[in-house]
Amino acid sequence: MAANQPPPTIDPSGGVPSPAPVPAGTADPAGTADPAGTADPAGTAPGDLAASRVPRGPAATGAESSADRDAAVGDPVAATLRALLAGRSNARVIDVGGGSGSLTVPLAVAGCQVTVVDPSIDALAILRRRAAEAGVADRVVAVQADLDALESAVGNADADLVLCHRVLESVDSLERVPPALAALAGCLAPTGALSLLVPGRPAAVLAMALAGRFEDAMAVHASPDGRYGAADPLRVRFDIDRLSELLAAAGLRVTSANGIGVVSGLLPGAILQARPDGRRALAGLEAQLSTSPPLRELAAELHIIAVPAQQ
Ligand SMILES: C[S@@+](CC[C@H](N)C(=O)[O-])C[C@H]1O[C@@H](n2cnc3c(N)ncnc32)[C@H](O)[C@@H]1O
Repeated sequence: MAANQPPPTIDPSGGVPSPAPVPAGTADPAGTADPAGTADPAGTAPGDLAASRVPRGPAATGAESSADRDAAVGDPVAATLRALLAGRSNARVIDVGGGSGSLTVPLAVAGCQVTVVDPSIDALAILRRRAAEAGVADRVVAVQADLDALESAVGNADADLVLCHRVLESVDSLERVPPALAALAGCLAPTGALSLLVPGRPAAVLAMALAGRFEDAMAVHASPDGRYGAADPLRVRFDIDRLSELLAAAGLRVTSANGIGVVSGLLPGAILQARPDGRRALAGLEAQLSTSPPLRELAAELHIIAVPAQQ
């Protein structure tokens, strides 16, 4: 990476507030969310980091839309990545399951060389269109491949940053997670970093319990993969400690673990309707809780940064 460069701006919308993501199985206890990862098929505005994070599910009810509500709470994931890429404006980035490029087109605009690996031909078509519209087609490579075939898809990538956001929950089973993490680790330069965004198990337990799904909540809490059974749309949910162990086995060391959406996913829409003046305070609360154990553990999603252990 080139040092001493200005940090890339990964949200060229100028800080368009971003949602507190609500993963499947938390605010969507009915299990109707989209584990296969087609949550961003529409190809919404380029550079809109928020576009793929519009939550679904019952917590989004109320006159105020979930997107409106979640737009209130800032984007700690983008903030973490901005800090990570500070001084690395032309970083090599691989986005595994990057979909239509909501995150990576802005990175390319900021000067990064981006490779998106995704099995969805539709998402990659949108990615190419977005990259062209943003004038960065020469900095975005779209590769149609699955995480399972990552090595053959990108070779010895030596990447400065590997993103794998909202994908691990779609692998075939818990047993597939260690090889997936090893493949992701294998893409990293010795000075690189891996960014994972995964659904949190404790949040799902709470959400299901609060929805009266006590049996499912018990199963999610007790099962090794954090699932409630065969009908569960997610293949795995994570705890910070367990994921840290899995990353260590892949030769990676966790450098930060943030909770994304500690309270937002549980918040009835009516609350913010009643407290429109509370948006900034909610954003501040989420930011505060995101790094604060034990409450960060309760977040709908866990954002983990890990680096090669020898770093
Ligand atoms: C929920 S979207 C997440 C998109 C983006 N990473 C984000 O966080 O906004 C999941 C993406 O992962 C892709 N995907 C699903 N299973 C995958 C797999 N086994 N390997 C790689 N990508 C996968 C889907 O095609 C989809 O584009």
